[in-house]
Amino acid sequence: MTVLRPHAEDQYAEELALLAAADDRPRPPGWRLSPQAVVTYLLGDGAKVSPKYVGPRRLIEVAVSTLATDRALLLLGVPGTAKTWVSEHLAAAVSGNSTLLVQGTAGTPEEAIRYGWNYARLLADGPTEAALVPSPVMRAMQRGAIARVEELTRVPSDVQDALITVLSEKSLPVPELNTEVQAQRGFNLIATANDRDRGVNELSSALRRRFNTVVLPVPASADDEVEIVARRVAQLGRALELPEVPAALDEIRRVVTVFRELRGGLTEDGRTKLKSPTGTLSPAEAISVVTNGLALAAHFGDGRLRAADVAAGIVGAVVKDPVSDRVVWREYLETVVRERPDWSDFYRAARDA
Ligand SMILES: Nc1ncnc2c1ncn2[C@@H]1O[C@H](COP(=O)(O)OP(=O)(O)O)[C@@H](O)[C@H]1O
Ligand SMILES: [Mg+2]
Repeated sequence: MTVLRPHAEDQYAEELALLAAADDRPRPPGWRLSPQAVVTYLLGDGAKVSPKYVGPRRLIEVAVSTLATDRALLLLGVPGTAKTWVSEHLAAAVSGNSTLLVQGTAGTPEEAIRYGWNYARLLADGPTEAALVPSPVMRAMQRGAIARVEELTRVPSDVQDALITVLSEKSLPVPELNTEVQAQRGFNLIATANDRDRGVNELSSALRRRFNTVVLPVPASADDEVEIVARRVAQLGRALELPEVPAALDEIRRVVTVFRELRGGLTEDGRTKLKSPTGTLSPAEAISVVTNGLALAAHFGDGRLRAADVAAGIVGAVVKDPVSDRVVWREYLETVVRERPDWSDFYRAARDA
């Protein structure tokens, strides 16, 4: 049996071991690697260490050095800008464990951040050490590892507040046992939050002060974005054991061009203003459009990725709101796509989709 999606520390175990073996810089207490080596793990070294994140080096340096201080790290950005991805890889590189994870939702209870109880044991023996069920955050404190909280701003404010003591005192009181768990060296926390959720459950200023914020941008250039999509699509294709479909780069570039133009409200040549659709057209969505297209091409096509394989996916990604987005898409299709001579295959496929 093989797991569908290995954790970063397992999938990249070899790279992490290589980096650890060659790493002669000082490591902060509890860290598996030096900050330098963690940055190399994320950005790649052009040889045996593959790049995980494509973007400004400085952002990753700030993120990594924050983790070596007593402040926690908040990764902020629009959906699909690799917040979750970067957080997982940072935890894997720093602690060798990316699994101490709390998924934030409107229903996240305080137990997910502090601790809960095994009720059978609680009823039988009362509150004891054995009846306590530690949260991922508590386990990270005990082990001196990185804890991750996804989508922090979706968590109700009173539950968020449970983090204040953890981050300021580095301690989690357990009044029922008249004790506390003190964080071991190496403990820290990475939270992610969506830019667009701002206002949903905005972080209290007391909590915000405990974080350094790093904003992950959408890719600066079309080339960067094509690289991100191509790299990830290839990885996913291998993991899913899709038959090899070569030379998909042209089609990837087209998906990225459509997304960037609509997102930015302007054609690549700067000549035509466009309306932007309601959804975010992020690299993550381009990755999923191309991967779906590859599955179509591999299983039902002639083994080459063609316009018809991505057209429906693109339309689905753009048209999230059936009324206003449809207007935006029609206009783009008829005024931009149609006028591009080498895009006629795509025009036909998209019109039919
Ligand atoms: N700058 C980037 N560098 C590398 N991969 C990226 C980048 N931006 C997006 N991705 C890819 O997008 C996918 C989705 O990112 P994710 O971390 O889920 O986004 P978020 O949590 O910000 O919504 C990931 O698989 C990642 O590979
Ligand atoms: Mg995410």
